[in-house]
Amino acid sequence: MFGFRKKYSLPEDFFQGAHDIHCHLLPGVDDGFSSAEKSLYALKKLEERGVKKMILTPHFMNNYPENNRKSISAEFETFKAEAEKACQIELRLGGEYMLEGGFPEHFKQGFLTLDKAGTHVLCETSYMMYEQNYTNMLYDIMCEELQPVIAHPERYEYAGKDVYMRWKDKRYKFQMNLLSLAGVYGEPAREKAHFLLNEGMYDYIGSDMHGLDNFRRFLPELRLRTKEIDAIAQLLENNKTLFD
Ligand SMILES: [Fe+2]
Repeated sequence: MFGFRKKYSLPEDFFQGAHDIHCHLLPGVDDGFSSAEKSLYALKKLEERGVKKMILTPHFMNNYPENNRKSISAEFETFKAEAEKACQIELRLGGEYMLEGGFPEHFKQGFLTLDKAGTHVLCETSYMMYEQNYTNMLYDIMCEELQPVIAHPERYEYAGKDVYMRWKDKRYKFQMNLLSLAGVYGEPAREKAHFLLNEGMYDYIGSDMHGLDNFRRFLPELRLRTKEIDAIAQLLENNKTLFD
């Protein structure tokens, strides 16, 4: 009778055909991978696990004022040319936009979106503070008939069920970080990730990979219920719709 509590590792072939929609593999532009060599090495490892397509989503935030649509697009084209020689993974460029003071300028430049149709905008907020301004910026996105995708909602310390319900009422989509389930971002984020996953509130899943270390350390330790593994597999399927 306790079988339903049993937990399992992800199957070895779980990432066969996977599409990642959030990662910091574009080298040297933010707190992600620091060199092209490291990024290319990671791509080879991911290809061995079966990953097929990735959207590179560098940070657009006040901490990296030099990042703008033009500069990042140029960096991407250079890296993509190198990556195409090293692996078969299809790379696309997106962005992860911090809802803060510099956001309106990025809005003006036009977003690097997650989908080809140019509608899905990956947004993040500060981890600590909830400000009314976030709501206004998200409202502005919706007014342009764009679709906010909230990056890793489980990580925001200010967010509880009330905030999640409010965001869902406003039809924002949620993207989970896989390793939140393994406790990479601490126990509260782990608990919230399990809650949101089991409540069916996530729409997409991403690695939010800044390097390989966390994946090497935490992925082998991850244990999930069958229902949760099935839910993640569905989120990976949802990711594919962004590439259509
Ligand atoms: Fe990220």
